[in-house]
Amino acid sequence: MAKNNISCFICSECGYKSTAMMGKCPKCGAWGTMEQEINQIKTLPKSGLVVPTSVAVPISGLDAEEKERIPSGIDELDRVLGGGWVQGGVTLLGGEPGVGKSTLLLQVCAAMAKRGNRVLYISGEESSGQLALRGRRLGLMTDGLDLLCESDLMSSLAAAEQNGYKFMVVDSVQAFRADSENGWAGSPTQVKGVAAMVVETAKRCEIPTVLVGHITKQGQIAGPKLLEHLVDVVLLFSGEQNSPNRLLRADKNRYGSTEELGIFEMSERGLTAVNDPSHIYWNGTDLGSSGVAIAMTLEGTRTLAAEIQALSCPTPFPYPKRTARGVEVSRLQLLLAVLERRCGISSRTSDVYLNVTGGLTLKDPSADLGICASLASAAMDIELPADVCFIGEVGLAGEVRPSGRTLMRVKEAARLGFKRAVISRRTPKDTYPIDVLKISAVREIIDLFLRR
Ligand code: TYD
Ligand code: MG
Repeated sequence: MAKNNISCFICSECGYKSTAMMGKCPKCGAWGTMEQEINQIKTLPKSGLVVPTSVAVPISGLDAEEKERIPSGIDELDRVLGGGWVQGGVTLLGGEPGVGKSTLLLQVCAAMAKRGNRVLYISGEESSGQLALRGRRLGLMTDGLDLLCESDLMSSLAAAEQNGYKFMVVDSVQAFRADSENGWAGSPTQVKGVAAMVVETAKRCEIPTVLVGHITKQGQIAGPKLLEHLVDVVLLFSGEQNSPNRLLRADKNRYGSTEELGIFEMSERGLTAVNDPSHIYWNGTDLGSSGVAIAMTLEGTRTLAAEIQALSCPTPFPYPKRTARGVEVSRLQLLLAVLERRCGISSRTSDVYLNVTGGLTLKDPSADLGICASLASAAMDIELPADVCFIGEVGLAGEVRPSGRTLMRVKEAARLGFKRAVISRRTPKDTYPIDVLKISAVREIIDLFLRR
C-alpha cells in the first residue's frame, strides 16, 4: 500500500473501527463483519500559502428567520419532527426490517401528494408493482406520487432534480451502490457514499428527503450509525414483534426537540395514529394482584399512564436475579437498595422481576415512585388500590421529589378515572381535579396502602 494511504477496518453492524483485521467485532460480537476501508491522507499546504476564499460573518447580521415547515400530512410524525419537514433537510428513518418504515413513508408520500406536492418514492428494495399493490390496499392511489424502482441511485437522483419534486424518499440506504466507492451495497463505505450523494442532492435542490436505514438486532443502525452526523434528523421507528404498537422517536433533530413521541398502530389499513396512548399501555383491568402500580409519565409533551408490574419470588440461591423490561436494571437495583435501607423492605432472598406493559420504556425519573410502589407491593404481597396513581422522583435518601408538570399528569389521571394521585409534598400548591396525597418519603406508601 502506498505510504500516504491509511487503512482501517470498520464493523458493518455497529460501525466499530479498528486498525487490525479481526474475525469478531469486539463491540457488537458479530462475526465476519469487519471490512477494510482505505483513506488517502492528503498533505496540507503550508500556512501563508493559502488565500482565504470564505469570509466569516457576525451572527447578529444574519437572517435568522424560521424556515417554513412543510407538513407531512401525518400529525404524529409532524409532532416528532417539530412541525414538519424543512426545505433541503435530510431525515434518516431507522428501524428493524418489517417494523413498517416503507408503509409509513408510502402513507406520508400519499398524504403530501394529496396536499398538492409532487412526490418521488425511490425504492431499491421493492418493485413498483409491489409498492402499487400496497398503495391500492391502503387507499393511497393519488396523483402527484411517482415511484422509481431501480438500483441506479445516480439516475434516480437526477430524475428527482430535473422534475422538480417537492419531497423525496430513498428506501433504503443499504439497497443502493455508489459507483464512486468500493465494496458491496450495504457495506460501511457504500452506505456513507450513498448517503453523501443523497444529502448533496437534497441540499442542492432544496428537496426535503427521507433516507431509510435498517437496524440490526443489536439495535444499532447498521451502517447508518456512521451517518448520524451527515443528516439533520434521525428518527427511530420501533415496536415489539407481537404487538401492533409502533413508536417513533427523534434521536437527533437539528430543527426541534428530541423529546416527542409518535405512537402508531399497525393494522390491515396500514399505520394509524393512536390518539389515546394511555389506553395502549394501561387497559384498566384490575386483577387485584400485588406488584401492580400505575405511574403517570411524560413522553415529550404527552402524559401516559404506564402500568408497572413487579414479581418477587423467593430463591434458594445466594445471588438473586434482577430482571427488568422497560426500565434499566441499574435503576431497579438502585430503587431496591433505597427500599431496603430507607423502608426496611428487603429483597435479598428473592428474585425480582420488573415489567412495564405494552413495550414502553420508562426514562422519565418521575416513574420512580410508581416503580417503588410496585416493588414494595410485590415484596409484601399486598395489592395496591386500583384507583391510585403515582407521580414522583425518588432520591437515595428515600425522599420523594416533585415532578415537572404535575398538574398535567394529575389531569390525565383524572380523565382515565383515577380517584387519587400520590405526589411529592414539595410540589407547588395547585388546584387538582382529584384528591392528591402528598408524601415526603417513600416509606409513607407503606403506611398509606401496604398495612394489613
Ligand atoms: P414494511 O413497511 O414493509 O416494513 P419495513 O419497510 O420497515 O421493512 O412493513 C412490513 C410489515 O408490516 C409486514 O410484516 C406486514 C405489516 N403490515 C401490516 O400489518 N399492515 C399493512 O397494511 C402493511 C402494509 C404492512
Ligand atoms: Mg421496507
